[in-house]
Amino acid sequence: MSMNELLTSAIDTIYGAESAAQQTRYQQAIERFRSHFGDSEHLRIIRAPGRVNLIGEHTDYNHGYVMPAALDKDVVILARSRADGIVNMHNVEASFAPIQFPVAEQVPIGPVGDWGNYVRGVVQIFSQYMQKLPPGMDLLVVSEPPYGVPRGAGLSSSTAFTVATAMTVCSLAQWTVEPEEFIRLCSDSEWYVGTRGGIMDQFASVFGELGHALFLDCRPTTAGYYRYQSLPLPHEANLLVVDSGVHHENARGEFNQRVAACRAGVGLLRKMHPTVTHLRDVQGIPWQQLEGLLPESVTVRDLQQQGLELGEIPGLDETTALRVRACCRHVWTENQRVIHAVDALESGDIVGLGHLLTAAHRSARDDYSISCPELEVLIQSAQQVEGVFGARLTGAGWGGCIIALVPPHAIATFQQNVQDFYFAKTGRTANVFPCRAGSGASVMI
Ligand code: GLA
Repeated sequence: MSMNELLTSAIDTIYGAESAAQQTRYQQAIERFRSHFGDSEHLRIIRAPGRVNLIGEHTDYNHGYVMPAALDKDVVILARSRADGIVNMHNVEASFAPIQFPVAEQVPIGPVGDWGNYVRGVVQIFSQYMQKLPPGMDLLVVSEPPYGVPRGAGLSSSTAFTVATAMTVCSLAQWTVEPEEFIRLCSDSEWYVGTRGGIMDQFASVFGELGHALFLDCRPTTAGYYRYQSLPLPHEANLLVVDSGVHHENARGEFNQRVAACRAGVGLLRKMHPTVTHLRDVQGIPWQQLEGLLPESVTVRDLQQQGLELGEIPGLDETTALRVRACCRHVWTENQRVIHAVDALESGDIVGLGHLLTAAHRSARDDYSISCPELEVLIQSAQQVEGVFGARLTGAGWGGCIIALVPPHAIATFQQNVQDFYFAKTGRTANVFPCRAGSGASVMI
């Protein structure tokens, strides 16, 4: 088969009903690759989707439960090897400056906010793991709207980019990495950039399944595997995503503080329960018995004085006050909600699922403190629409998106009312779109 025939068939498999529009998108991308790099000989094309999280927020790095789905929006990379060991990366969007650096086992990080850092992270982490260097490469990144992953929206555009880059590197270098190891290495590559996240986003981007959410237990087995299960999204209601268009710049610092609060909780609980390594380990103990062991707030310095070290967490300073009790309560209750959400999905209990989403939002807002005024306006407007089963913020927080479970007859009203209300209250435009769970990352050709 020719390159075009192979690509056409891969696009049909991955995108199903949307494949006609995607054919055009890919053909345009190939044209752009030719105009950047001269021709399209030996071209590889790789794609990786963003994700939306139904429920289970900030539980992954605590070895808890999550329920994400891969989006039908993705990052596409067109690539081929170069003989000179240089990574030469362009983006079809002019706001992303081209990146160039030599492959190495230690790649110096670029300035904060430089999109090339994700690629540097991947090259360093995978080279160290394989103990050899990949070839140099010409890369063209395509993630424009409407098919690309919206950026800064809590839909894991960075993970989609990281996963797509890592798959590209492995494909060009002809490296075979077991999927779960691949996911861990992608997560480590994002740590290189500075956020201490877990594995949920990478897992969803790699293992996503058309029309399904993934229930994932983020505690690895002793052999390093993860337990997960695909669950069909409900038919009785639609999952709508609403993008607030807000992205808070200090989100990484806030994120890392939450990680620190959870680690502080673990350190303090170990005094009573010495085998605890992650908050997940106390999931079987009633919350009332744990609460008293955790202070409402404690500074990093106080913890150090008690001999508790939190490990390396960028951006944390000694005077930072960590809201340990409330953060741990969120994680503990959220894990329970995910388990109940699995039951609700399996038994078709949409009303129950809606209540869980709403309760998860309250916990994220009040205990984990990751909401913001704009998200609250969206939640409020969503809840005012008759028939809506539930709504919550999704993703890390401090901006980004909410999701809502909406019966089919209320979709038009939902879109209109939420957009009008949001505009009236904030002067901003909310982007509403359906979450159609897509397929996990793949090498297209
Ligand atoms: C980010 C991180 C994930 C997860 C979520 C919050 O997306 O990358 O690992 O912690 O936030 O649930």
